[in-house]
Amino acid sequence: MIIPFEDGETLSRLFHLNSEPWANIEAYREAQDYEVEYREMNGAGTSVPLPAPAGSRLLELLSARDSCREYDLRSMSLETLSTILKCAYGITRTSQMPKVGGGYFRTVPSAGGLFPLEVFFLAREVEGLTEGIHHYNLLDHSLELLREGRWFAELDQAMISAPFILNANLIFFLSAVFKRTQKKYGPRGYRYILLEAGHLAQNLCLAAAEQELGSLCMGGYRDSRLNRFLGFDGIHEAVVYSVAVGYGVR
Ligand SMILES: Cc1cc2nc3c(=O)[nH]c(=O)nc-3n(C[C@H](O)[C@H](O)[C@H](O)COP(=O)(O)O)c2cc1C
Repeated sequence: MIIPFEDGETLSRLFHLNSEPWANIEAYREAQDYEVEYREMNGAGTSVPLPAPAGSRLLELLSARDSCREYDLRSMSLETLSTILKCAYGITRTSQMPKVGGGYFRTVPSAGGLFPLEVFFLAREVEGLTEGIHHYNLLDHSLELLREGRWFAELDQAMISAPFILNANLIFFLSAVFKRTQKKYGPRGYRYILLEAGHLAQNLCLAAAEQELGSLCMGGYRDSRLNRFLGFDGIHEAVVYSVAVGYGVR
């Protein structure tokens, strides 16, 4: 099958739809004794010893982040959630060129200022917030309730890591509206979208660390089930990453 030059989405869509979690049990089994590789360019020239890094609040937060796989369900303030969302994907400044970034820039860089991502999350035990699925409206920094309910049990079917996040307060789902970026960048735009999800997820994790909360980045979910659960068709819009946040058990 030859994909026409002007068709910017079919190739990545084929890949996306064919990259559900890999049911290769053998690869998982072998990975139990995997060796993590490091590169050292021995013999490439003189090595330069570095001085100790300067005191850095950012380094403290980066060091505080780790993958948290056990949570204690306690009440979270709405202010904490607000801070996490603002750090993750909030508006930081207006654009001098209204066409770029839709007039605004955010806490993440975005290829062409096109911002393909949307932030949805499942919330519970957040003061003053209805339990259910919400969307972050970043234009006016508000929350939009999509579906009320305690959906955590439903996630069991969709998230491979569901047992780890049973008691998290928040489970974020980063969705991509592919066309926003691919209308300009075509197949390569798909790469940009995934990179941008990484930026956003790191912001979420560091914002959680700053609030002394734990987080877990999750790529292990069944796309078709999760997309159905959230109401995405999985073709024009789909979940590309998920992050749980809550009070970590240490
Ligand atoms: C793209 C990506 C997907 C991941 N998916 C999962 C997942 O589905 N479940 C899980 O328990 N951890 C997941 N992790 C977490 C990694 O296992 C973890 O980051 C890694 O072991 C390093 O440990 P640290 O996060 O504690 O530094 C994922 C991490 C990344 C970057």
